Amino acid sequence: MHRSALQSDVDLTSFNTFGVAARARYFARINDAEELRAVLLSRDVAQRLLILGGGSNLLLTQDFPGLVLHINLLGKRIVARESDATLVEVAAGENWHEFVCWTLQQHLAGLENLSLIPGAAGAAPIQNIGAYGVEMKDLFYSLRAMDIDDGRMRTFDRAACNFAYRDSVFKRELKDRYVILSVTFRLPDAAKLHLDYGELGAELTRMGKSAPTAQDVSDAVCNIRRRKLPDPAVIGNAGSFFKNPIVDGEILSRLQASHDNVPHFPVPDGKIKLAAGWLIEQCGWKGKSLGRAGVHEKHALVLVNRGGASGQEILELARAIQASVREKFAIDLEPEPVIV
Ligand code: EPU
Repeated sequence: MHRSALQSDVDLTSFNTFGVAARARYFARINDAEELRAVLLSRDVAQRLLILGGGSNLLLTQDFPGLVLHINLLGKRIVARESDATLVEVAAGENWHEFVCWTLQQHLAGLENLSLIPGAAGAAPIQNIGAYGVEMKDLFYSLRAMDIDDGRMRTFDRAACNFAYRDSVFKRELKDRYVILSVTFRLPDAAKLHLDYGELGAELTRMGKSAPTAQDVSDAVCNIRRRKLPDPAVIGNAGSFFKNPIVDGEILSRLQASHDNVPHFPVPDGKIKLAAGWLIEQCGWKGKSLGRAGVHEKHALVLVNRGGASGQEILELARAIQASVREKFAIDLEPEPVIV
């Protein structure tokens, strides 16, 4: 192992978008696959391991007693031009939004609805990031990952990743088993623009774009996100803190019996996706605080660090919200970020 690369007792405040001041017992910045293999094969296996990308989907509730690997692999390239699509590959450490902008500059459409999502490209498949009617899995082709135990490389195609709403095999069966090094997307030449998600069409109209391009859609998504979602560089947060619950029709009917205009969206298997932000707002949490942790004024699904909050304080707020939603609606909210 490149011992020189290993640091001890490192402050992780700038490595998690909540801005929580936890420390890592050991920390190494990983710049290439060989370095990663060397670190993995020489580490003390009894020691806990945390793979860190952009730290945008992470809540650190305590100092981390093991080894944190910060994945800093960089590069993006066009891999192949097929008759009807282009394959593009991005290294895990690249910033997701910059990668999306780069694809648009190459005149490749498909990822525009996923503009401005914070975080690193390597983390995108883990929770199958999604926004404004598109999920990453829709454009995903394959990824390359290293086995944490033996350093071997493996390619995962879409089926092997078992993607679902904010979910993949890397959050379940293969949790903590692989480090993602690069992701390849297949962007069709005739990519269809997805303009159906509620506010998106209205925003494009407001912008005067009656025949929008992929770049226009990206600009519209950025406008909406900047209006509603707090910028982690300004106020610590990890985007949506809970998943939108997927429920049976009876639960929706029960809610509709007592509330007008319950936001809900059909999902493929006959179930219904409810808006967790609406449920939380109905419980009176929007804009409220518990200690130094708070619920964002403009979007109740986003928990924020109002300054100096510990991960425990944010977790306590999350638990209090879960308890309220359970009590009022008998619905369980599942956190979206990884809680360490
Ligand atoms: N709503 C409220 N009150 C609120 C917030 C939302 O009533 O305070 C209602 C809205 O009126 C709307 C519905 O909830 O009818 C949905 O809200 P929004 O369009 O803002 O989306 P969301 O379901 O809250 C999801 C994703 C976001 C993604 C947006 C847009 C999840 C967990 N979150 O949020 O992703 O940007 O859709 O597609 O699925 C993230 O995962 O970190 C994230 C930001």
